[in-house]
Amino acid sequence: METPDHTNDADLSAFAYPDGWFVIATADELKPGGIITKPFMGKDVVLYRTKSGLPRAVAPYCPHLGAHLGDGKVEGEDIVCPYHKFAFATDGRCVRTGCGDKPPQAQLESRHVRDWNGLIAVWQGADGRVPEWELPEFDWTGYSAPIKGVRTHHGSLQNATENAFDPTHQQTLHGWESNDVSQLPQTDGHHIHLVTRLTAKGLPVTLDFKLYGLGLMCVEMSLERADVRAKFLVVPAQVGPLKWTYRETMRLRISWLSRWPAFAQKMVYGLLSPALFYLWYLPQLQQDMDIWEKRSYARYPKPSATEGPLVAYRRWAAQFYPTVEKDRPDSATSGKIVSHDRPGAPNDPDNIRTAMAAYSAGNGASIPEPQFEKSG
Ligand code: FES
Ligand SMILES: [Fe+2]
Repeated sequence: METPDHTNDADLSAFAYPDGWFVIATADELKPGGIITKPFMGKDVVLYRTKSGLPRAVAPYCPHLGAHLGDGKVEGEDIVCPYHKFAFATDGRCVRTGCGDKPPQAQLESRHVRDWNGLIAVWQGADGRVPEWELPEFDWTGYSAPIKGVRTHHGSLQNATENAFDPTHQQTLHGWESNDVSQLPQTDGHHIHLVTRLTAKGLPVTLDFKLYGLGLMCVEMSLERADVRAKFLVVPAQVGPLKWTYRETMRLRISWLSRWPAFAQKMVYGLLSPALFYLWYLPQLQQDMDIWEKRSYARYPKPSATEGPLVAYRRWAAQFYPTVEKDRPDSATSGKIVSHDRPGAPNDPDNIRTAMAAYSAGNGASIPEPQFEKSG
């Protein structure tokens, strides 16, 4: 079957990008002195690492005459344009020119960037918003070395995280035997947290989902009976209007293994981690991906009675999108971002029930506008 062309979908035709931290590369890709270009939210981002190891994320075009800096090189702590060899320091100032002229007052635009858990995260803030929170820190003591994956998909990056708050699909799509859907997520600003307990192949499994904005989900899967824990960092990023990357890292921790000698631990992790990742996790992810690839974004879903977490998630997710003043051809601000709607995300179950009713009725008026705007 041919892949349908979702570009005709009105809701997806003009995409508003969310604010937050997003992972666009792994640290391995960015060696000292290296430069790489990554597509991110409809633009290129040039990443480079200075000789001393500082990561930088800058706008792709040279302020002098617009050459692409991804073709440039790193000299010491500076990035040098391939065209007239203007050099820019880590604070963005032009510090020298290739022809010996005095450097002009030119400033290279940059993004906030973090080396974080072997990944490179950049900040996206519409209308110049600076980072409003930091990425969480993790203690990886006792965990195996990470297994990393990345793939590109069609549609919205929300697929990756919304999946966690879609309680019924664990049974209907993945075939898990039972799922406790009684829990509602707890929200706190940019953070949302949900714990679900399931049964798979007769084994009780706890899934703990913590999100920090729309670009980072930490999933801890615990098989308490076997004392096995797998921790996934799922870091989706929107590449363009209908394209996003799903990246993850997985680390395993088996408490009783810590009593074994180091070589034996390494051997067991070397067998178990790939088995869990490739034989158990990826086949299930593939089931999700088959749906995501052809899915359209349902702006006003029709949730059933047990899908409160999904509605809570949608309400929480809305805070990351800039509010756009629309359909005002006479307005100077028409089609431009005029403010951020930061509605918060009430945890109150009554509030969520009200929101569910509004969604089901197709009446989104009382709910913060979700993430898609009409073009033009
Ligand atoms: S365009 Fe970059 S130095 Fe001229
Ligand atoms: Fe899933």
